[in-house]
Amino acid sequence: MHQSILITGASSGIGEACAVHLAHKGFRVYAAARRVEKLRELEGLAGGRIAPLALDVTDDASVESVMARIAEDGATLFGLVNNAGISVMGPIEETPLEEWRRQYETNVFGLVRVTQAVLPQMRAAGRGRIVNIGSVTGRIAMPFQGVYASSKHAIEGLTDALRREVEPHGLKVSLVRPGFINTPFGHQEQEQLQNHVDAGGPYADAVHKFKLWHAKGHPTAPGPTVVAEAVHAALTAEHPHSRYTAPMSNVGALMLRNLAPSAVVDRILQRVAGLK
Ligand SMILES: NC(=O)c1ccc[n+]([C@@H]2O[C@H](COP(=O)([O-])OP(=O)(O)OC[C@H]3O[C@@H](n4cnc5c(N)ncnc54)[C@H](OP(=O)(O)O)[C@@H]3O)[C@@H](O)[C@H]2O)c1
Repeated sequence: MHQSILITGASSGIGEACAVHLAHKGFRVYAAARRVEKLRELEGLAGGRIAPLALDVTDDASVESVMARIAEDGATLFGLVNNAGISVMGPIEETPLEEWRRQYETNVFGLVRVTQAVLPQMRAAGRGRIVNIGSVTGRIAMPFQGVYASSKHAIEGLTDALRREVEPHGLKVSLVRPGFINTPFGHQEQEQLQNHVDAGGPYADAVHKFKLWHAKGHPTAPGPTVVAEAVHAALTAEHPHSRYTAPMSNVGALMLRNLAPSAVVDRILQRVAGLK
């Protein structure tokens, strides 16, 4: 029997890589996202163990219909990979609350919605794994990434609380923190930063400098398989870590963030981003 897992945001980047990698490792993968036509490209791979499902994590009815479809198959989910995410970039002062809400509806409330839908069956089974995709920005908030970074900080906290709540029910919860990963994610971030530059205003010059630094990050970064390998470890290790960082080269920056005084970290990050 193949263990079944649900991956949100599987139509692109990290979610797609997780779907392919985990199906090759023997999991039955429910690959979910809004763009079903992209998911269909995965259907024939890995012995046909990838099933595409239409899912919008911001919509109650969509999540219910995914759960109904999985139940129709007679499957009980062993794993959930909460990967679906978007990024809102720009200065905090200039980002309308509507955009903050859009960010949180997907990255935070969407994750909670899917998790709440899956937990009853995992608890009833007395076993299961939940892997939340956070980010290095969930610990290190660069300037002009405050909206996105704060949503990933929220995921850090809720993952810790969830892990402690469900462990007595036999469930294990991990956070996987990617650093820069070469996926389409960076393109839309670049476009948003450019919009802020074009709009002018007091932060335009600094956003332009930050954009130049950010532009170097994604194209030179590793591909998403490095994250899929960490997700696989979180799903299969007897005693999974509470946190995985992928790639590991980001661990130094995280340690610096934890150990150095904020004033020092501020200066370093401003310099790294070309703002000083
Ligand atoms: N790439 C990086 O450098 C990086 C670094 C740190 C963390 N991350 C995190 O990794 C995750 C995946 O990012 P990625 O780089 O793979 O980006 P991506 O290539 O843009 O993929 C994002 C995925 O999220 C899905 N999605 C967005 N809104 C959704 C919604 N409302 N309902 C369901 N699915 C939705 C998209 O599918 P549809 O549009 O088809 O719905 C897509 O499959 C995100 O949580 C991101 O924050 C990425």
